[in-house]
Amino acid sequence: MSAENIRKEFPILNQKNRNKKLIYFDSAATSLKPISVIEKEMQFYKEYGASIHRSVYELGEKATNEFENARKKVAKFIGATSAESIIFTKSATESINLVADAWGFKNLKKNDVILLTDMEHHSNIVPWQIISEKTGAIIQYIKSTPNGTLNLEDFENMLNENVKIVSVTHASNVFGTINPIKNIVKKAHEHGALVMVDGCQSTPHIPIDVVELDCDFFAFSGHKMFGPTGVGVLYGKKEILKNMPPYQTGGGMIEEVTMEKSTWTDIPHKFEPGSPVSAQVIGLGAAIDFFNTIDNNHIEIQKDLISYALKKLNEIDGITIYGDASERTSIISFNIDNIHSLDIAQFLDYEGIAVRSGHHCCKPLMNTLGISSCIRISFHIYNEKNEIDTFIEKLNKSIETLS
Ligand SMILES: Cc1ncc(COP(=O)(O)O)c(C=O)c1O
Repeated sequence: MSAENIRKEFPILNQKNRNKKLIYFDSAATSLKPISVIEKEMQFYKEYGASIHRSVYELGEKATNEFENARKKVAKFIGATSAESIIFTKSATESINLVADAWGFKNLKKNDVILLTDMEHHSNIVPWQIISEKTGAIIQYIKSTPNGTLNLEDFENMLNENVKIVSVTHASNVFGTINPIKNIVKKAHEHGALVMVDGCQSTPHIPIDVVELDCDFFAFSGHKMFGPTGVGVLYGKKEILKNMPPYQTGGGMIEEVTMEKSTWTDIPHKFEPGSPVSAQVIGLGAAIDFFNTIDNNHIEIQKDLISYALKKLNEIDGITIYGDASERTSIISFNIDNIHSLDIAQFLDYEGIAVRSGHHCCKPLMNTLGISSCIRISFHIYNEKNEIDTFIEKLNKSIETLS
């Protein structure tokens, strides 16, 4: 698909921002949605929006089939060999909470170690803090280097038999760095630790193969990869998931319920209590279909955009760009000397340009970097070089005005 045709698939690009042509540089927060995804969700509500897994009538059967088909698509998309390994949640945040709570509560004890990194999103820190309070397990952090990569020597030195789980982001939502997960998993497994991967920022941009990575858990959100809001995914190795207690309980996840006690059904439904997020899951299936139509050429397009933007940004006086890893996704974070990131973001907003400013839910990383906030721009397939030119022009104008 040509860039022009790709843009036509995203109706929101016809919208104005503050009455100016919209330039959307915030895909790391949430991606725009192609029309096929919007229509698929609408079709569910218009044509077969019945309760799934329990309705015997035709509409219910159709809804159930579409839902379970989406599970198969997700499994294939991330290289999982079985759809039973795919659990639908409402977000990556919920997926990580599920593992921290259900796996953590059963498997962690006093003085066990949970290994995180200082570049984690709060979603991959706070759930572990809660489970550490409940179990007495200790959290330790692998530090990032000034160029935004992980210090792997530190990581290896920190591994010992007390480390029970390593939970690490596949790609940093501040630096854009893609971490060497395969290597991390191999080393962690040598010491008997499991590995949970936060795939929020990698899944929308690079091919994922959970079997090749050999990770034990992998979490991501639908809304960052052209899918609807309100749906997340947790992949887990089957034998590990089967041995975990349920996270939340209620209807749809039981085998037997008496007045005294209950037993659970098998994975994946054991982890999907209540009426599932049907429209969202089916919409996510359509997002994966969309990925399949654009092939992998979007990866090359974005690499071009990133190197072009980095070259242009590096020409600006007083800029600090955070991270310069060679393996990265479509994210650049930066600050301009003596101007608050929020002021620049607001200035750009009035020029039609949507960027993110703040701590990006990475307060520990902000501390490591010695800053309280920065500007983040992030791209996806619908972005173009001419948008970067306009952005650079307006950024320069903002610097002139605000300094
Ligand atoms: C790296 C990373 N992890 C986790 C999350 C949380 O995702 P969600 O808010 O969709 O649950 C995000 C979202 O910004 C993220 O960028």
